[in-house]
Amino acid sequence: MATSRLRLLLLSISSMLFVSSSYSLSEPQTLLKFKASLTNAAKLSWEKNSKPPCDAHRSNWVGVVCMNSSVLGLQLEDMGLSGTINVNALSGFPNLKSLSFMNNSFRGSMPDFRKLKELKSLYLSKNQFSGDIPANAFEGLIKMMKLYLSGNKFTGEVPSSVLDLPKLKEIKLDGNRFSGRIPDFKQTTLQVVNLSNNALEGSIPQSLGKMDATMFSGNKGLCGAPLKTKCDSRPSPTSPVPRPPSSSTRAPPPEPLVPSIWIIMIIFIVGGLVVFSILTVLLMGRRRTETPPTEEAPPPRTQKSETVKLCFLMGERERFDLTVLLKSSAEVLGSGSFGASFKAAIPTGPTMVVKRFQQMNNAGKEEFHAHLKSLGRIRHNNLLPIIAYFYRRDEKLLVTDFLHNGSLAVRLHGHESVGQPPLDWPTRLSIVKGVTKGLEHLYREQPGLVAPHGNLKSSNVLLDDSLHPLLTDYSLTPIINQETAQQHMLAYKSPEFIKTRRITKKTDVWSLGLLILEILTAKPPENYRGNDDDQDLAMWVRSIVGDDPEDHASKIDVILDKDMGEIREGDRKVIVDLLEIGLSCCDLDTDKRLDLKEAAERIEGLKVEDDK
Ligand SMILES: *[C@@H]1O[C@H](CO)[C@@H](O)[C@H](O)[C@H]1NC(C)=O
Ligand SMILES: *[C@@H]1O[C@H](CO)[C@@H](O)[C@H](O)[C@H]1NC(C)=O
Ligand SMILES: *[C@@H]1O[C@H](CO)[C@@H](O)[C@H](O)[C@H]1NC(C)=O
Repeated sequence: MATSRLRLLLLSISSMLFVSSSYSLSEPQTLLKFKASLTNAAKLSWEKNSKPPCDAHRSNWVGVVCMNSSVLGLQLEDMGLSGTINVNALSGFPNLKSLSFMNNSFRGSMPDFRKLKELKSLYLSKNQFSGDIPANAFEGLIKMMKLYLSGNKFTGEVPSSVLDLPKLKEIKLDGNRFSGRIPDFKQTTLQVVNLSNNALEGSIPQSLGKMDATMFSGNKGLCGAPLKTKCDSRPSPTSPVPRPPSSSTRAPPPEPLVPSIWIIMIIFIVGGLVVFSILTVLLMGRRRTETPPTEEAPPPRTQKSETVKLCFLMGERERFDLTVLLKSSAEVLGSGSFGASFKAAIPTGPTMVVKRFQQMNNAGKEEFHAHLKSLGRIRHNNLLPIIAYFYRRDEKLLVTDFLHNGSLAVRLHGHESVGQPPLDWPTRLSIVKGVTKGLEHLYREQPGLVAPHGNLKSSNVLLDDSLHPLLTDYSLTPIINQETAQQHMLAYKSPEFIKTRRITKKTDVWSLGLLILEILTAKPPENYRGNDDDQDLAMWVRSIVGDDPEDHASKIDVILDKDMGEIREGDRKVIVDLLEIGLSCCDLDTDKRLDLKEAAERIEGLKVEDDK
């Protein structure tokens, strides 16, 4: 079909343009660009004006592997690194053969390494990566010999593209949550295929029948050689993935929009060069509308949700179509824990953010619409409203306004890299007050929710032009899948959830407390979460200032963010008070922890020196 050929062409043009865009940087520049997207990279003493990274085979920069005076690989292990692995920057090394990030703290979904065509070994073991790995994640990496993903939190099926790596020798996927059946590896080069400690099921393919049995142990559902468990002789299901329940009893025709949105989103994450994919959306949209509705005969109930029509929640806002929104220049903002988000504008209107949520199947359709309607009624100066949303069973998008000043997280932890000035004390205090007011309003408006925000953290606090805070991604717990919620939402990282598997009305208060401490110290709380999730930023702060409030004033300088600048004596007292409130909000014992009302009253009572 002509449109799909055109679409492929556009996709390949966009990826070509994109790959060639970063070749012009020098090796030091490329390394520094790569470092800039890491957090907690203090151990990486890479400097702009030092010796070149590589002299012949000798490396002058920590963790850089050299060959013939050029960068051959990176070996950044055991460094506590987190943040983003900027593959785009790495594509500036044309000979990059080996990458190791083992035993760090990287989180989120599998980065897309497909641009690094020379890669022979990739070691990502012992991080916190999570989520499904797209089937095509390793497509085209034909030189790959060693792939280590052990000890992460990956879910879903073993990505099928590993079957097409002709030189693969060692693949270690042990210690994850992979499920489904083991794909049929055919490579004769294979020596290690460690799949132990996952949730795989079905019979072990014959090609692996002579491997060491320890590579399959710890999967309850596996059977066949080399394991001792015999397979049931009944025919096993042919489809490895259980199909979601369908609304009709006949096998439903494939829904045309799903794969295209997938492709587009992958491009978003990979590329950033979105204009072409936007065109693709348009093409797909047009193709669909050209299709006579009878051709695929979908049941009438689902037909309505097949269109790209948005549901609007704000009556006063101009209506637009998703395709119109995406037609203008769009730009990737990032891939958050729930999915990608991107920035787009209607030609005559404001810039908006479209966020994709893949994991929102907790509620049925009616419930989903009802919950979004209830969110649409919430209006408050400190809550970013949802303008519109898009619903399909397998695809949900939320549209909000775009705020140019970005998030509090960036302002606290990366303001230098984006060229913003740091926040002074009066601004920090007013942000704390605004956040608290927004949270109080959510408690009033969503009394049915145990944690009315559920995911209060600095990346969900956006700043408007006058640095006034607006909370976002609030009250989504009822519609987010339980498992995803537990993986990604802050409420489920709270001490009480870890201990008792319960969240309480004070769980959001704990998040507020952490946020206060983060604002005072500029330390990202996720870096203080221990391996067993039993530690937090509050414990670190307490370990320094001690338990006795009398001592806090004298010890507070050690933990305060230096970027706050000179602190006046009058303000210091207020800062110590705010620190006390923050610590009380983080009390592990929920009985002793402040409730929101108390915390809000005490926060409201704080004043900067000038306005006393
Ligand atoms: C390094 O240089 C030598 C001699 O110039 C060459 O034979 C070898 O293939 C080069 N190695 C790499 C990895 O480029
Ligand atoms: C992992 O890295 C940490 C430092 O971040 C180090 O203390 C620890 O020993 C390392 N673990 C292993 C098994 O190497
Ligand atoms: C496979 O990984 C497990 C740890 O998850 C380990 O105990 C086992 O020895 C490994 N097997 C081989 C053959 O490497």
